[in-house]
Amino acid sequence: MPSSAQAIEAPSTVSRTSADPAFSADVLACFRSPRRAIPARWLYDLAGSELFEAITNLPEYYPTRTETALLERYCDEVAAHGGAGRAVVEFGSGSSVKTPHLLRAVQGEHYVPIDISGDFLRDSASALAADFPELAVHPLEGDFMRPLKLPDAVAGVPKLGFFPGSTIGNMVARSSVDLLRSMRETMGEGSMLLIGMDRIKSPDILIPAYDDAQGVTGEFNLNLLRRINRELDADIPVEHFAHVARWNDSYARIEMHLEAQTDMTFEVLGECFSMAKGETIHTENSHKYGPRDARLLLRAGGWTMCHEWTDPDDWFALILAEAKPFQTAP
Ligand code: TRP
Repeated sequence: MPSSAQAIEAPSTVSRTSADPAFSADVLACFRSPRRAIPARWLYDLAGSELFEAITNLPEYYPTRTETALLERYCDEVAAHGGAGRAVVEFGSGSSVKTPHLLRAVQGEHYVPIDISGDFLRDSASALAADFPELAVHPLEGDFMRPLKLPDAVAGVPKLGFFPGSTIGNMVARSSVDLLRSMRETMGEGSMLLIGMDRIKSPDILIPAYDDAQGVTGEFNLNLLRRINRELDADIPVEHFAHVARWNDSYARIEMHLEAQTDMTFEVLGECFSMAKGETIHTENSHKYGPRDARLLLRAGGWTMCHEWTDPDDWFALILAEAKPFQTAP
């Protein structure tokens, strides 16, 4: 008996569309495997990015407004704790909406926004440059998961990395440590890092943040299937899937899944697949970190915490860390 995840038919052609080969490889690998999962980056096409923007304004989605309030309130303290005058290096700057608070407080001469999407990067960099005429903005297009060469203009300048949004939580432990180490290598010893991390809290708060009453997060998740249908010549019955947000306590993370509501078969790029009612496609993780977890994660990546700021409910933490010279143990 073939498992339901196995291909029933061999593909007749390698590819019928001009689809992104990396996207088709990830999607086909997902449906060929018994553990169906698709890397979260494919959630963010244009429609997905707009839906994500809407998520950040939902009443149930506390992280964005909590972190923004922390930045408004405490960026002066970040400057006082050693951030003042540094070049700000933002990892995954996107639309850079949270950055002005930090730039105003730090009062450095340089800002290096890094993003994988060049268009997005240039638009937001020029918008920001207009608000900060004194600031030298050096947009850097690239994948910050790997060490990058920063512009020569900031070569001798002390650096403050900025990584908000609890984006670190969207990585599994191994990738998040790799990323922290890459950041250390990119910016160098003596650099500082201001990072946002969402705290562990009751699933009664967490689950609605990832499964809102208006169904926006559901639409965001289901949009992935619509994208597969459109770009990969597929006929997945989107209406027979439901968005599910689960708390995985062992991993301290919210998981987003797409759950089949009925037995089904469908085709992707000419290859036939089936799913049984109740089976899911795993599409996103959002790990949460308690105070000690956060410090351990940072240390594993080469960063020592200097200070942290949280909201009165302790729902979200803004952490300032430093790349101290490595010491011989003990
Ligand atoms: N890093 C944020 C978080 O995990 C933003 C985010 C990423 C998100 N993917 C998401 C929010 C999916 C809602 C749904 O909360």
